[in-house]
Amino acid sequence: MSVLQSSPTVLDPYDYGFQDDPYPTYAWLREHEPLHHNAELDLWALTRHEDIADALRTEGTYSNSYGVAIEKSAWGPSAYKVMSILGMDPPRQKRLRSLVSRGFTPRRVHDLLPRVQELTDRYLAECLERGSFDWIADFAGKLPMDVISEMMGVPEEDRAEVRRQADIVVHREDGVYDVPPAGAEASLWLVSYYMDMVAERRRKPTDDLTSALIEAEIDGERLNDDDVIAFLFLMVVAGNETTTKLLGHAAFHLTRHPDQHDLVFGGAGRTDLVAPWVEETLRYDTSSQLLARYLLRDVELHGRVAPQGSKLLLCLGSANRDESVFSRPTDFDITRDDDELAKILSFGGGRHFCLGANLARLEARVALTALVQRARSIEVDHDACRRVHSVNVRGFAAAPMTVVAR
Ligand code: HEM
Repeated sequence: MSVLQSSPTVLDPYDYGFQDDPYPTYAWLREHEPLHHNAELDLWALTRHEDIADALRTEGTYSNSYGVAIEKSAWGPSAYKVMSILGMDPPRQKRLRSLVSRGFTPRRVHDLLPRVQELTDRYLAECLERGSFDWIADFAGKLPMDVISEMMGVPEEDRAEVRRQADIVVHREDGVYDVPPAGAEASLWLVSYYMDMVAERRRKPTDDLTSALIEAEIDGERLNDDDVIAFLFLMVVAGNETTTKLLGHAAFHLTRHPDQHDLVFGGAGRTDLVAPWVEETLRYDTSSQLLARYLLRDVELHGRVAPQGSKLLLCLGSANRDESVFSRPTDFDITRDDDELAKILSFGGGRHFCLGANLARLEARVALTALVQRARSIEVDHDACRRVHSVNVRGFAAAPMTVVAR
């Protein structure tokens, strides 16, 4: 019997062992049970790249209408109220997405560059001055939410408090797998804050995303206040923690591979390797590992049937390690072929493809480029890193780092 065959055969997103290292379970399932059923949780899962890519693009079967989160209180037909387009199917999702996309054009993202750079420089200077710091608390946990606030037009003086509340919204203590009371309270705080902001923009439009969303119009249709607020809230949930975790994984995995670290930080520093470093991190250990779907009809694959009405997980983290698509999938290799990297599913695909993918990439590239320019080497205390135990995101809550400045 091969080593893989003695691996666990049940995918349980609540299990700490799985959360600490889901990859052996994925590998076993890809080979032996590509349409998996966890009978106890009545949860189905797809783990092969081809199946997941198909599911993301197939209309009318794999529905987002119950949301994408596994947590009980987030799952159900009201998901769209806080998840906006992420909790909807076409045609409503398509129409609303084309409205909100207007406030999310490549130009709008590109215009953010100077501010992303400024925030990066400020937080990084504070870190470098200390030499030893926590990469998550002192840098990666701050930048993404401040950038989102910048886009929305949250005034500077409110941003620290908005970030604090957003952190509470997404924070989960170990073993807590539903929205805790503090999270619900912080959600209400943010919703009421955004309500005031939307009312203010209706009175006095500016050139921020909130005003763009209010003014966006297609075939005479505009977004109402609830639509705008749900979308602003979605950005906090979808764009904040995911990007923090990307930055955390980038530092963690590069430093776990000294040859790769030296390639990037050696000599004068190779800033040209930052983009592939970001892409390989997205492939190797993505923050958004599992997307839930509600089945609108039976799905028959690999000789078994997941019935209509089931909850099915698309395991993006598994697709990115699929040996039929990626060579040496368990190696972290920033020199990997561009053709291979183009096949990662970290930002999803099809009609719900991540609207913030360009922004997340921009933030990661600016932040890591600045790090390469200013540090001769970085060191992460891997044993002291602490992962979040979450069913929805994968990444670190703490990552102690020491840098030697150039
Ligand atoms: C590394 C960072 C990020 C990752 C890994 C990520 C991942 C994803 C994934 C996998 C989806 C597709 C969900 C589905 O198919 O159900 C998605 C959708 C979305 N993401 Fe991201 N995301 C990131 C950053 C961001 C940022 C920075 C923003 C905005 C500030 C953002 C906004 C959105 C929105 C609005 C959607 C919904 C699109 C739709 O339903 O049509 N994301 N993201």
